[in-house]
Amino acid sequence: MDLSTSMRTDMCGQLTSADIGRTVTICGWVDRRREHGEHLAFIDLRDHTGVLQCVVDGSRDLRSEYVVRMTGEVRSRPEGTVNPDLATGDVEVDVNSVEILSQAEPPPFPMDERTGVDETIRLRHRYVDLRKSRMQRNLRTRAVVNSTIRAAMERQGFVEVETPMLIASTPEGARDFVVPSRKEPGSFYALPQSPQLFKQLCMVGGIDRYYQIARCLRDEDLRADRQFEFMQLDAEASFVSQEDVFEFISEAVADVAEAVTGDRPTEFPHITWAESMERFGNDKPDMRFGMELTELTPIFEGTEARVFQAECVKGICLEGGAESLSRNQVDSLVDDAKRWGAKGLAWMRVATGDDGRARLEAGVAKFLSADEGSAVIAALDARPGDMVFLVADARRMVQRVLGMLRLALGRPAVGEGGFKFVWVVDFPLFEGLGDDGKPIPAHHPFTMPHPDDMANFDAGGEALLDVRSQAYDLVLNGWELGSGSVRIHRNDIQSRIFDLLGISEEEAQAKFGFLLDAFRFGAPPHAGFAFGIDRLTALMVGEENIREVIAFPKTQSGADPLTNAPGPLDSAQLEELGLRVLPQAT
Ligand code: AMO
Ligand code: AMP
Repeated sequence: MDLSTSMRTDMCGQLTSADIGRTVTICGWVDRRREHGEHLAFIDLRDHTGVLQCVVDGSRDLRSEYVVRMTGEVRSRPEGTVNPDLATGDVEVDVNSVEILSQAEPPPFPMDERTGVDETIRLRHRYVDLRKSRMQRNLRTRAVVNSTIRAAMERQGFVEVETPMLIASTPEGARDFVVPSRKEPGSFYALPQSPQLFKQLCMVGGIDRYYQIARCLRDEDLRADRQFEFMQLDAEASFVSQEDVFEFISEAVADVAEAVTGDRPTEFPHITWAESMERFGNDKPDMRFGMELTELTPIFEGTEARVFQAECVKGICLEGGAESLSRNQVDSLVDDAKRWGAKGLAWMRVATGDDGRARLEAGVAKFLSADEGSAVIAALDARPGDMVFLVADARRMVQRVLGMLRLALGRPAVGEGGFKFVWVVDFPLFEGLGDDGKPIPAHHPFTMPHPDDMANFDAGGEALLDVRSQAYDLVLNGWELGSGSVRIHRNDIQSRIFDLLGISEEEAQAKFGFLLDAFRFGAPPHAGFAFGIDRLTALMVGEENIREVIAFPKTQSGADPLTNAPGPLDSAQLEELGLRVLPQAT
């Protein structure tokens, strides 16, 4: 792309041997300075396209991060000074005019990409941090992600509708950020946890296919994949089934992957929630590697081994683990398993027996009968040199512990192993019963129960836990990318759900009355989805923390070292808002 302006003819990173002989003017930041004899200096000049070696008069005071404009002739570098690691490594500019546009204080941290810098210092001077090629790549990729999503949604007939930021509470299950009202002291707006209810209102409003690249705000504990503020591709469509939603969203996500990597993912397999729990131990299976959880319960039916007398026994096999894991590492895995809630972690090495066949030894091998041992080896397809791990417990606990162990032992680094998408379908409608016996919704309370499970739905009580929902997630490499569901569009079913959840009619009316009212005026069947753009971008560029793909993120503790938010209000503002701050316990 031609990025020339009235101040420059070329970009630093784009000059090659084809430009030799041309007189160019370039602008940028001083990346590095090296003295060359008494009279000359080499300046590496940087803009977002790369760096370029410039030869200048050594008496010029050009320091790190000065902003300069230089004019000179492009020439080939002398023999032996060519830098094959640099795109512009064949050439240099013989500078005859230098203009200092801005001086700069020494940068607050080293500008080379390799030196690790404290997070708070990086964020305090984010504008300097953003000059680095990693951040340039991340933000520019993010822009490609956004524009690709827009194009894909619009090609599929989706219409962008903006929804308000100052609203009443939305039911995504996190804590709201609130904004005090000046006009009505004592009253508060909530900031949207998502546009969920508004997009459903858009369906009642006949928009048919809505999308929005939407900012969402949730006051929850921050993690590598969570910020207070984040962006969603939010979508909703009318007269559709969940299969239609999978198509729209898979198309957008495949376009994004293709735009960023050049490769178009073609496989978006489906797995039921129940199968994912059995095979991978969680609802966001990382399909980049095997080591699946193997069912061993039948092998231990009527076992003499006390350890394995349990509702469920499963195992995983680590190829080569007998050799690669030290005894200390195994002991620390056992400790991990106990921290995750297991009673213990049984391990055994696979060795070659006297008869030349694989046999189990060490660990708990002595508790197993010969038949149990060979059945375990066969079920896990274990070979001499491998290590097997077994957990016996209630089924959920076995899944949880081995699911975490599988990740600890086998998970590839982010950015490795390609992109493995999977749709997880048939989530349960309720994730459990609370202490009060009321079911706890697994998604938000507008999620349609599975039509095949209405008998259990009607039966109520424990049977509710067997009711599936028409809710689904899209998972990429073990990250939950997004969630959605077919919505309830009939007030009779919605009232039943509220009833089950213990939400009284008055409460429902107070919280979601506007949605229930809307449904009385002709609601089309509708379904939707939202995925996290920060997460998708992070995975696309191989970053482990979504902060790295956000221009101005918060630290882990939720602070912004750049602007010093959050900060106190002065007393006049407090008064105007009708607020008084209570003394804080220190
Ligand atoms: P849900 O709450 O599952 O669904 O959110 C959808 C996706 O948004 C991203 N996400 C986040 N990203 C960064 N930081 C956070 N704190 C954060 N919280 C969520 C995740 C997540 O999968 N309204 C429903 C969607 C629907 O039913 O249509 C919703 O918001 O990638
Ligand atoms: P114990 O009989 O409790 O001393 O346990 C003997 C071995 O079995 C130890 O290595 C424990 O870590 C392991 N173990 C104990 N309980 C379980 C369990 N529920 N599942 C798997 N391994 C277990």
